[in-house]
Amino acid sequence: MKIGNIKIKGIASLAPMAGITDRAFREICAMFGAAYFTSEMVSAKGLIYKSNKTYSLINHSKQEKPFAVQLFGNCPEDFYKSIKLLENYMDKIDLIDINMGCPAKKIIKEHSGSALMKEPKLCGEIIKTAKSISPVPVTVKIRSGWDKNHKNAVEVAQICELSGADAITVHGRTKEQGYAGKSDLEIIKKVKENVKIPVIGNGDITNFETANKLMIYTNCDMIAVGRGAMGNPWIFKEINEGHKVMPTLNEKIRVMKMHIHKLCIYKGEEIGIKESRKHIAQYIKNIHRASEFRKKAFLAKSKERLMELCDELKNIKN
Ligand SMILES: Cc1cc2nc3c(=O)[nH]c(=O)nc-3n(C[C@H](O)[C@H](O)[C@H](O)COP(=O)(O)O)c2cc1C
Repeated sequence: MKIGNIKIKGIASLAPMAGITDRAFREICAMFGAAYFTSEMVSAKGLIYKSNKTYSLINHSKQEKPFAVQLFGNCPEDFYKSIKLLENYMDKIDLIDINMGCPAKKIIKEHSGSALMKEPKLCGEIIKTAKSISPVPVTVKIRSGWDKNHKNAVEVAQICELSGADAITVHGRTKEQGYAGKSDLEIIKKVKENVKIPVIGNGDITNFETANKLMIYTNCDMIAVGRGAMGNPWIFKEINEGHKVMPTLNEKIRVMKMHIHKLCIYKGEEIGIKESRKHIAQYIKNIHRASEFRKKAFLAKSKERLMELCDELKNIKN
């Protein structure tokens, strides 16, 4: 499949998750066949104000290909300026994605993320402006709508398409749902029926069965996996191969150690150790007697100690 002129090599991409899908995690998912990668959401204003922290979010490596930078903001001008500022990085960036789905309070307060879906005309203006300056394809990520009485994903998707969007990701939950309740397959299906650009279905994919169900029911072109990849990057292999993939305990520990190592390299040992906790909890979710390990791992103060504990975990008898 292609998004604009960019060839996508598989069917399952890694959905962006702020605080989770950083370079370390994206590289891990690349090892198991994720089709493409998106940065954590990046503030358009943060780029304009030259925030180092914001710029650090677009760092990525060669394995993460194709790579999309996801921008959030609330006015066309900010998107224009921020994409222009990315000019120097454009040889490494394959796509620009516009966030119209984030439900976080502080994002909504500044009329960004899913608040944009309340103003479909503005959504169109943002895409048109982004397209006018972006040398790479522009995609957009939306939700089903604001709440159950305002599910306007089809309208927003059509406006974005008319304004030049090259693909659209639809998460089948409303802003009101946040991350609870069920993702609505019906709305993804309706968007797919009403636009010609590629549609990427998203929400609640946890294995190859749920991936197949979403693809078959909605007829979408691709899927994006978010939380289902946490502690389970093997999900991409599973979806690509169409059968259950069950990593052994040793394999889980190998990948978890690699993940911790990458976090410590990219963020420094102190932050790396802290940030690895949320991933460790996911990797060991179904491991017998894991709580003992978790308690010790969360107290570890050095990478060396953490690695030692991971090796000890190999001796746990299931
Ligand atoms: C912790 C967290 C952070 C997220 N951050 C982003 C983000 O930065 N940009 C975005 O478009 N979506 C973000 N999302 C939404 C996911 O991309 C995805 O749409 C949602 O989790 C539903 O997919 P899933 O059921 O596969 O997780 C985030 C979700 C979570 C749980």
